[in-house]
Amino acid sequence: MLEIRDLRSGYGLIEVLQGISLRVETGEIATLIGANGAGKTTLLMTLSGQPRARNGSIVFDGKDITHTPMHNLVRLGIAHVPEGRHIFPRMTVLENLQLGAFACDPKNFADDLDFALTLFPQLESRMAQRGGTLSGGEQQMLAIGRGLMSRPRLLLLDEPSLGLAPLIVRQVFDTIRLINRERKTTILLVEQNAFQALKLSDKAYVMVNGAITLSGTGAELLGNSEVQAAYMEGGLAQTVPA
Ligand SMILES: Nc1ncnc2c1ncn2[C@@H]1O[C@H](COP(=O)(O)OP(=O)(O)OP(=O)(O)O)[C@@H](O)[C@H]1O
Ligand SMILES: [Mg+2]
Repeated sequence: MLEIRDLRSGYGLIEVLQGISLRVETGEIATLIGANGAGKTTLLMTLSGQPRARNGSIVFDGKDITHTPMHNLVRLGIAHVPEGRHIFPRMTVLENLQLGAFACDPKNFADDLDFALTLFPQLESRMAQRGGTLSGGEQQMLAIGRGLMSRPRLLLLDEPSLGLAPLIVRQVFDTIRLINRERKTTILLVEQNAFQALKLSDKAYVMVNGAITLSGTGAELLGNSEVQAAYMEGGLAQTVPA
């Protein structure tokens, strides 16, 4: 469904992505792990068109989208839930969700809202509250919910569990699995929580300094001693929140 070939991008004179190639097949959950500053966010941002690709190609559903502007990607079926949530703080929860659905058939709105609220029932009593006054966990739920309102076929999630309490982290990972199963949404997930992410991934990639250094199934990378040492602090024991 998504094929990235030899992608290079960066900021000004700084080259961040050093020729990334990866594939995400229809219906799967693919995860990208890597240290801070590796270029994970830059990859998702480049997929969304900002910064621009300097070299290489991005093909989605057989269509070259390397230079397609962000607002058109939503119509093609790609939703990006950025790192740090970036919900609209002065708009209400409902307005944020409505914005997520801007490019969609209004006929679907009620159903899609229903689905988002089934995933995140905590938001239901907060529909009239301003986004900026939600807790961090609620804002992350809203950010994912807003992404889902466009009925994406490919969902790009950048560190959805960052800064959340363990129970909410669990809810977020359960939700990712559910979205994939129920809606058959293909997911490209960027995560620091390597253990949880690899556990639910069909395929995974490790990024180091803007290059993919390792790839395999989620299970393969979970069992890889280098991955365990570098991305699962203290080995598996510490990373399993029961
Ligand atoms: N807007 C920007 N202008 C200049 N440099 C940037 C910009 N955004 C990111 N960078 C640099 O690009 C490199 C990769 O950053 P990126 O945010 O893609 O890393 P990351 O893998 O997502 O890290 P993290 O896990 O901390 O989120 C870093 O060295 C960063 O300083
Ligand atoms: Mg990042």
